[in-house]
Amino acid sequence: MPSFDQIRAALPLALAETNLPLPGKRAGKVRDAYPLDGERVLFVTTDRLSAFDRILAAVPFKGQVLNQLAAWWFEQTRDIIPNHALAVPDPNALVARAAQPFRVEVIVRGFITGVTTTALWYRYALGEREIYGHHFPEGLRKNQALPSPIVTPTTKGDAGAHDERLTSAQVVSAGYLDAKAWDTVQSAALELFARGQKIARQTGLILVDTKYEFGRAPDGTILLIDEMHTPDSSRFWQADTYAARFEQGDEPENFDKEFVRLAYAKQNYRGDGEPPTMPDDLWLQTAERYITIYEMLTGKTFAPGAYPVEPRLVKNFTAWLKDQSKIEI
Ligand SMILES: Nc1ncnc2c1ncn2[C@@H]1O[C@H](COP(=O)(O)OP(=O)(O)OP(=O)(O)O)[C@@H](O)[C@H]1O
Ligand SMILES: [Mg+2]
Repeated sequence: MPSFDQIRAALPLALAETNLPLPGKRAGKVRDAYPLDGERVLFVTTDRLSAFDRILAAVPFKGQVLNQLAAWWFEQTRDIIPNHALAVPDPNALVARAAQPFRVEVIVRGFITGVTTTALWYRYALGEREIYGHHFPEGLRKNQALPSPIVTPTTKGDAGAHDERLTSAQVVSAGYLDAKAWDTVQSAALELFARGQKIARQTGLILVDTKYEFGRAPDGTILLIDEMHTPDSSRFWQADTYAARFEQGDEPENFDKEFVRLAYAKQNYRGDGEPPTMPDDLWLQTAERYITIYEMLTGKTFAPGAYPVEPRLVKNFTAWLKDQSKIEI
């Protein structure tokens, strides 16, 4: 783990955007994608942190953590379903197989929690007992474990649009996926989640819920794409304090982006209008949390890449390309 001073020194250099000498950049909220050829895409995971559907800050080392953690998980789960990862030419970069993303986000939940309008606890607290096509009994409490994990699909909203809740039946009837593909996706998602929970548990963490994206490669294969089991796409709780806190009605200790949302909520900001300016310390602590999650899950020591990122990345990617052409000749 880099020291707090090392993280502080990187703060003004955090990677907010990239402008690589490659055509066709497409910037998502967190990743910049550069098409390489019809079959491959270069994804650069930046340090951008998004919450409340906006970019709030650039957090040092966040991009590297997400990229390396997702790449690590892709390796741990390759036997369950093929994924898009081909190579990691730089700590912040992934060369991936290009896919046609399915227009649904596949969320798997092991617990009833959350405060946003698509969250299970939010709907349950409103009195709903049929949620995403699943039935929920009376008497559940916030942050309680579900009898077994469930899949709760949502539409993948275009920029600005909100994600809509779907049932499994609707995924197929509305034509997002055919029945066979949805079956493949749903079982893969549950298996990936079970693997994730098992590995997280061994490292002292609970994988609470997560979002997967899948797509179709040009040859028709269904691929797991985007990222997996990162603190951006998942909730993680500290395992050893969970039960006692749950009994007392206290919120679990969390290691994910909820930390940032709570800091904003303390300033009475919940997403409407201009967000307040937050002290640098919030972003430095966020960096520490992301790095901690990486180290706990992988059991590796985080090796901070040099800042500024972009010149380093160009160098590493160029070297990787050269190496590739050697292999192909
Ligand atoms: N292998 C792939 N092929 C094609 N598209 C992909 C692949 N993997 C991920 N994507 C898409 O690239 C984007 C990744 O960028 P990022 O995570 O920053 O986006 P995002 O802001 O979450 O995206 P969006 O706003 O589209 O949901 C996502 O839109 C994701 O669906
Ligand atoms: Mg994303």
